[in-house]
Amino acid sequence: MDKAKTKKTVGIIVDIAMYGLLLAQMLYVFTGNTVHEVLGIGFFVCLVVHIIIKRKWYATLFNGAKKPAARKIFNISTILLMLCSIVLMVSSMGVSRLIFPWFRALGSSDLHKYLATAVLALSVFHGGMRGYIRTKKKKKAGIFIALGTIAAASVGLALVPYLNRHFKVVDISLNEAVDGEKVQLSEKPLVVYFTRVGNTDFDDDVDAVSGASLLIADGELMGSNQLLAEMIKNAADCDTKAITVTGKKYPSSYGSTVTVSLKELSNDSRPEIEPIDISGYNSVILIYPLWCGTVPMPVATFLENSDLSGKKLYLIATQGSSGFGSSTEDIRKMTEGADVEEVMSIYCDDIPYSRERLVKWLNEAFN
Ligand SMILES: Cc1cc2nc3c(=O)[nH]c(=O)nc-3n(C[C@H](O)[C@H](O)[C@H](O)COP(=O)(O)O)c2cc1C
Repeated sequence: MDKAKTKKTVGIIVDIAMYGLLLAQMLYVFTGNTVHEVLGIGFFVCLVVHIIIKRKWYATLFNGAKKPAARKIFNISTILLMLCSIVLMVSSMGVSRLIFPWFRALGSSDLHKYLATAVLALSVFHGGMRGYIRTKKKKKAGIFIALGTIAAASVGLALVPYLNRHFKVVDISLNEAVDGEKVQLSEKPLVVYFTRVGNTDFDDDVDAVSGASLLIADGELMGSNQLLAEMIKNAADCDTKAITVTGKKYPSSYGSTVTVSLKELSNDSRPEIEPIDISGYNSVILIYPLWCGTVPMPVATFLENSDLSGKKLYLIATQGSSGFGSSTEDIRKMTEGADVEEVMSIYCDDIPYSRERLVKWLNEAFN
């Protein structure tokens, strides 16, 4: 095969791989974070190869020669695609937890998801316009491009709220997740946790709507923060207490729970909860899920109802990508007089495999 032919074949393979990788990237829910990050690297490597192969053509993008309208539109879309891809690459580093954990300041999960949607739609348009310029059947090609681009943008936008929400059921063996090495602590803290299970009216077919926060442990539904509490209980023989709302429970669907919690947040609500007596403990470990960038409002109720002055408060936040948001600051404001320690943040996917990390953390915090 001569050089030009090889280059063309490689170019086609790389282009197809880029479309495939981009689509696979949108299936984060199924692939999980590690595969997503590795595929992301693959996508950007392909992008660089694509630009190297087409470098002569890219050099003509900005020359001022008079060009037909279709070519101008193609060029503008290509420049937009390049810009979005570059910003997407930077934002990928910002939201990365595995390969680039040092650039968190650049990370916005929402920006990343919308950029990915823009890159997907622009890629379809870009590929379509290449065909449009070459084909004689302009009308048919135009309709295909319009429909393809709208479909890609719609699928992307529809997926945005779910891209890193895990609707798969995480099935675990309770014993395997919880049982293990024991630790002797200098004092026994009380473990208080909030989790969706116990605070939600789940539909009977909850498996179909379950989120990352839901685990099936030995066939039983279990909140992931409850699982963390069980791990600490197993390791350090601590007492555990659940924060349980006494009024209306949260809705079964993840999306509706987000809506309710946003409303509670903007109203600064304090939902009623079952009383929790912390008087016999010098320290409390609070395990809470991050909700809308801060603590769920029933956790705020617990903190404000409890006299934590003079006690140590250790924090474990579980989250779906936003670290711990403003939760620690907010907690400090609600617990005057308490000694609030630094938070440990656990990504929701990692929860079932966190026992070892918890033991290490317990040893550091209490011994
Ligand atoms: C109403 C709601 C709001 C959430 N908001 C955020 C958020 O702002 N940032 C984030 O990273 N994760 C968010 N999450 C994801 C949870 O923090 C994560 O799934 C956590 O592991 C849930 O733990 P649980 O099962 O014990 O309730 C939210 C989850 C729910 C249900």
